Amino acid sequence: MSETSSLPVAPIDGRTRVVVILAYPTHHVRTPTFFNARVAALGLNAVLVPWKVSPAQLPAALEGLRLVENLAGVIVTVPHKQQMAALCDGLEGIAAHLGVCNVARRTPDGRFIGRMYDGVGFVTGLRGQGIDPAGKRALLLGAGGAATAVAAALLDAGVRQLTIVNRTRDKADLLVAQLKAKRPDAAVGSAEGAAGQWDLIVNGTSLGLKPEDPLPLDPVLLDPSSLVAEVIMQPAETALLLAAKARGCRIHRGEHMVTAQIDLLVDYLLG
Ligand SMILES: NC(=O)c1ccc[n+]([C@@H]2O[C@H](COP(=O)([O-])OP(=O)(O)OC[C@H]3O[C@@H](n4cnc5c(N)ncnc54)[C@H](OP(=O)(O)O)[C@@H]3O)[C@@H](O)[C@H]2O)c1
Repeated sequence: MSETSSLPVAPIDGRTRVVVILAYPTHHVRTPTFFNARVAALGLNAVLVPWKVSPAQLPAALEGLRLVENLAGVIVTVPHKQQMAALCDGLEGIAAHLGVCNVARRTPDGRFIGRMYDGVGFVTGLRGQGIDPAGKRALLLGAGGAATAVAAALLDAGVRQLTIVNRTRDKADLLVAQLKAKRPDAAVGSAEGAAGQWDLIVNGTSLGLKPEDPLPLDPVLLDPSSLVAEVIMQPAETALLLAAKARGCRIHRGEHMVTAQIDLLVDYLLG
């Protein structure tokens, strides 16, 4: 039996509104499981389905989706969040500031208006597990779509210090500049490596999705007093989380980030 078989799913008929989640690949995508269960629990007539679309085909796929009148909107995940923001006709909130989005509503005239809920989802997920980021020294690995949103949300949540480390240093520097443009006094910077004293370490890279991926940081740098958090949902416990557990660290799984934003996504797309 799969994990989804016991969850309720709303019946599909001629009035069903459709949401697609655009991803490449799609096998790791877990949002439909939670989204469709929530839709069913709320008694809404809607469904979320995965669409495997390559970055090169995203503009063409979106042009087609503009014509679909019962399409409520799209959710986007790796690797589309930055490209999708550029393809949207309008962006709201933090998406407009950072140029990334993970959801776009389709208006009746076929325009897409994007928002970004990953950051608020991550911080809400932490708080839901009794972890308050306020006052913490945080290390964020990554500077892609998810990491960008997590960085902004951690600053909003009052971390004492935020250090961003990314394979492509220029992207980390650009992200720091974007964050400082909105919050000139924010204690945020980039660094070449992950050495340091951290209360909270967040893997915001895509490393850990594939079994052959290297760890996003050397586990010898992990102190048992650090909380190690993931954005990756599949596997539920990545190699990084397993290594952190072995070092005596508290861990926080990536699934909390998505479950914490389901109501926001349902509301924005179907409300
Ligand atoms: N739990 C949730 O709700 C949730 C929500 C959103 C995303 N996610 C997960 O977050 C992950 C990242 O998504 P995204 O949209 O941010 O992707 P993205 O925009 O493509 O960014 C990928 C990030 O990973 C880094 N990276 C990729 N391959 C690497 C490698 N071999 N070595 C070192 N760094 C590497 C990239 O570094 P460069 O800049 O150097 O390329 C970049 O910082 C995905 O696994 C996704 O499933 C989870």
